Amino acid sequence: MTQHLAAPRTGTTAASGGHTETPGHRTGWWQDAVIYQVYPRSFADGNGDGMGDLDGVRDRLPYLKELGVDAVWLSPFYASPQADAGYDVADYRAIDPMFGTLPAAQALIADAHGLGLRVIVDVVPNHSSEQHTWFRRAIEEGPGSPMRERYHFRPGKGDGGELPPNDWPSVFGGPAWTRTTDPDGTPGDWYLHLFAPEQPDFNWEHPAVAEEFRSILRFWLDLGVDGFRIDVAHGLVKAPGLPDIGGGKLRLLGNDIMPFFDQDGVHEIYRSWRQVLDAYAGDRIAVAEAWTPTVERTAHYVRPDELHQAFNFQYLSTSWDGPALREVIETSLAAMRPVGAPATWVLSNHDVTRHATRFAGPPGVGTQTREAGDRVLGLRRARAATLLMLALPGSAYLYQGEELGLPDVTDLPDEARQDPSFFRADGQDGFRDGCRVPIPWTRAGESYGFGAGGSWLPQPAGWAELSVEAQTGDPGSTLELYRSALAVRRRQPGLGAGSSVEWLDAPEGVLVFARPGFVCTVNTTGTAVRIGAHGRLLLASGPVTENGADTDLPPDTTAWWAV
Ligand code: GLC
Repeated sequence: MTQHLAAPRTGTTAASGGHTETPGHRTGWWQDAVIYQVYPRSFADGNGDGMGDLDGVRDRLPYLKELGVDAVWLSPFYASPQADAGYDVADYRAIDPMFGTLPAAQALIADAHGLGLRVIVDVVPNHSSEQHTWFRRAIEEGPGSPMRERYHFRPGKGDGGELPPNDWPSVFGGPAWTRTTDPDGTPGDWYLHLFAPEQPDFNWEHPAVAEEFRSILRFWLDLGVDGFRIDVAHGLVKAPGLPDIGGGKLRLLGNDIMPFFDQDGVHEIYRSWRQVLDAYAGDRIAVAEAWTPTVERTAHYVRPDELHQAFNFQYLSTSWDGPALREVIETSLAAMRPVGAPATWVLSNHDVTRHATRFAGPPGVGTQTREAGDRVLGLRRARAATLLMLALPGSAYLYQGEELGLPDVTDLPDEARQDPSFFRADGQDGFRDGCRVPIPWTRAGESYGFGAGGSWLPQPAGWAELSVEAQTGDPGSTLELYRSALAVRRRQPGLGAGSSVEWLDAPEGVLVFARPGFVCTVNTTGTAVRIGAHGRLLLASGPVTENGADTDLPPDTTAWWAV
């Protein structure tokens, strides 16, 4: 593993940017926050059933505190049949027994706050589970049930209604419509589901839907959460009349505006949610999962009276390529400036191939690849990419396990897979399980310390040396690189602040930019480059050597300099 210079850690204040960190007292804490995504089923298993849970997360909060993040975002843990790993919610106010209880959630929130960590929870407003009371009643009560108006039920096309009402595809493959059976046993109307058939889309034109979600937000705000990550924030409003799209494959990014995504009507919903958030003390926030065609359209979600942040999927989808990275950084910052929102940066999450694997092969893989690639190369670039990301102004999102340099597990046996898109033809590539394999905590033990009872997805042989235990205290480890980087970011007030970077001259494929008191140099090429001195070396993702006035930056390496 490559060496880096370890910087001393402060470890005393949970606030970045030099502010004080008492939940509720720091205005704008989120503007430069580093937010760590916990995927509860794969983080830590407290009760030994092979599935991660809330008690497991709670036990590991000190680890997150020591890592140096500001906040934790928890993927869904609500009552759910788990048709889409919890993104199919049957009861938005209840905890699924496999994850714990409401008191366990309260204890987690309280402990996190005690450590100075904020807590963000997922809210899933585009669709419910087919097991949600409203949808069950809609099916049981049959055509004419008022409950059907809360979803999108339509008669089919064709003589006998045997064809879907329109040509919309599901993101997971196949048509976005499923036909119902009427209570008398005959084929009935169809209902819309942009994702799995077990995830019927709500009709957001119905006032009861809007009222219910404001109430759900208040339920969790009353329990003390600091904010929400809004699932499929771009999907809630559908174009009037549900017009055909005229064929074509659905992509998450790079689509023209679709009649079911990024419709202007969604913004009215978020303006009303902002009022709910602002009625609470303590700077509560919301971040949109909005896959939009351009960063300029993403900026609409974070206008001053809407949400606080939106994920930057254009950044996540960019290859390890100097000019492309510079361009996406510039366009992202430029898009956010007019609306006054912080840019956000993300490299990995539970829906995409981990960046240590995306960067392990030729450029241009987008968000998914099935190829393991060159692991050494992938890790070297991933470490460099992380230091680049953490030097940018705005807020950064980390996904559990990236601090260990985990690769995607590309060779999971088909019988182990659970991603619903794997089972549906022609959809997303269906390989999201590869980034969801449970975390290795210790060298030994059946599931590397994930829990006492195995793990719901098999972990690869050889993960012992990637475990938290193996990496802790090793100055060359990726875990210690993240700890050092987050500590520097915390000490260096200029790092996450502001809304621009100053680009300095650099050889081809090399990015050099200045921030207040700080310079970041990134070599995205496969050969070492000689660059001038840029101050005092703070931290590097690989072995930087200084030769008098010059510095040799190895291939695929980022270095941070204090000036
Ligand atoms: C979001 C989630 C993803 C889920 C989908 C449907 O994209 O991140 O995991 O499958 O929405 O809820």
